[in-house]
Amino acid sequence: MTAHSPADAPLTAVVTGASSGIGRATAARLVADGWRVLAVARREERLAELAAETGCEVLAVDVTSDESVAALVARVEELFDGSLNAVVHVAGGALGVETAAEADLEKWQRMYDINVLGAVRVTRALLPAVRRSGRGDLLFLTSVAGHEAYPGGSGYNAAKAGEHMLAAALRLELNGEKVRVIEVAPGMVRTEEFSLVRLGDQDAADAVYDGVEQPLTAEDCADVVSYALNAPHHVNLDLVTVRPLAQAAAHRVARHQGL
Ligand SMILES: NC(=O)c1ccc[n+]([C@@H]2O[C@H](COP(=O)([O-])OP(=O)(O)OC[C@H]3O[C@@H](n4cnc5c(N)ncnc54)[C@H](OP(=O)(O)O)[C@@H]3O)[C@@H](O)[C@H]2O)c1
Repeated sequence: MTAHSPADAPLTAVVTGASSGIGRATAARLVADGWRVLAVARREERLAELAAETGCEVLAVDVTSDESVAALVARVEELFDGSLNAVVHVAGGALGVETAAEADLEKWQRMYDINVLGAVRVTRALLPAVRRSGRGDLLFLTSVAGHEAYPGGSGYNAAKAGEHMLAAALRLELNGEKVRVIEVAPGMVRTEEFSLVRLGDQDAADAVYDGVEQPLTAEDCADVVSYALNAPHHVNLDLVTVRPLAQAAAHRVARHQGL
């Protein structure tokens, strides 16, 4: 195992949540930037398409499973000689829009399991490889929902606030080491599955974006991630909020009829 990648070797990254939306666009973007990428999520057929399209490496991983994440560590060891420059935590999402008074605790539990425990499980497992690289990054794709509450958001607000605090504590704990902790917190991003998974119905999912002029795209978010990861390593975009122009706050979105 090498202690440091040679200076001219491609940078290496694991991207979670890479089977769709922001994670998929991020994996593709990093490959285009010249990185070696191991893209992970649960759905293998989606990952196979991504591999065929981009040439990235893929592995089926469930971030809520210790066993699955252990297999991820083994694959990083094999592929990258145990030295990893970046972990991009995108796996996550929202379930439901119930008020706190009507909270569905199973959904709260699942949101916490994926967004918070999934992120810390993968971090804990891969941090030794990230430290070994000598140029490390832990990037957390949180959300403005982790910073601003909105009615019907409490379960997701709490989970994303938890992920934000994980990133914040890690930044303090890793201070003085060659590991940046970066948080990218997007507002409204129109991806195929996010609102569908949250609401369970295509019409309701489409209505989320009704009348909104140009919600962010997955590629817009991948651009920000790419900028943050490719910046000189002493430059740490520790928290980046990115929203569409039409959105002034999580719950304040300009809508126009006929759009
Ligand atoms: N869209 C938005 O408006 C928005 C705004 C701000 C932040 N975000 C955040 O951005 C991230 C990506 O969102 P998106 O819009 O791209 O939604 P998405 O298309 O639904 O992506 C979610 C990804 O997470 C993966 N995933 C879910 N559970 C997993 C698990 N247990 N293990 C491994 N992977 C898992 C999914 O893949 P599999 O199902 O194949 O496992 C999928 O690739 C999420 O963290 C979300 O909270 C989204």
